[in-house]
Amino acid sequence: MKSIFPKLVLVLCLSVSMYSQEKTADDLIKSMKKADITYAQLMTGMSEALNNIQSGIIGMNSMLAERGINFIRTHPAPKQKPWVIMSKEDRESFKSTLLYFDKKMDEDVLVIENAIIRKDWDLALKGLNTFENTCMACHNSWKNKVKYIME
Ligand code: HEC
Repeated sequence: MKSIFPKLVLVLCLSVSMYSQEKTADDLIKSMKKADITYAQLMTGMSEALNNIQSGIIGMNSMLAERGINFIRTHPAPKQKPWVIMSKEDRESFKSTLLYFDKKMDEDVLVIENAIIRKDWDLALKGLNTFENTCMACHNSWKNKVKYIME
């Protein structure tokens, strides 16, 4: 007699993977703690984190690098939804950009962290370069599309 168990497992896996694909930018923002800052102020924090990681690698100081890495992983959300800085027609596409880059930045700092754990500072520096390119990729497409809503 054929068991339906494998089919059940398959259906379960499919629905779990569909569910995880449906994580939206709203879910992402909700999962973060909120800070009383603007998106631009969050970016100043990103910049500080990048500096910490860079000085940490150049100075072979894992504590400092870890501080920056930790900020990238645990950074808060700004007080307003990030996409309100974009014009209405750009918002949906900025939302998917946020989802993509949030994940990409976490992946980049993991590579840096693993290199630092192995004290492979050259590899960490390469990872830093990749990470900076990630920041720049988003800026190239979005930084000049900001439409401020002055309320
Ligand atoms: C999802 C896209 C995105 C990513 C990823 C991103 N930024 Fe930005 N960044 C922006 C946008 C959009 C602005 C313009 C914000 C504004 O003017 O309100 C900006 C602005 C900035 C600014 C200028 C802030 C100011 O006060 O004018 C700095 C500095 C900055 N980002 C650093 C970084 C660093 C460092 C990283 C990577 C660790 C990074 N950003 C990753 C979208 C991004």
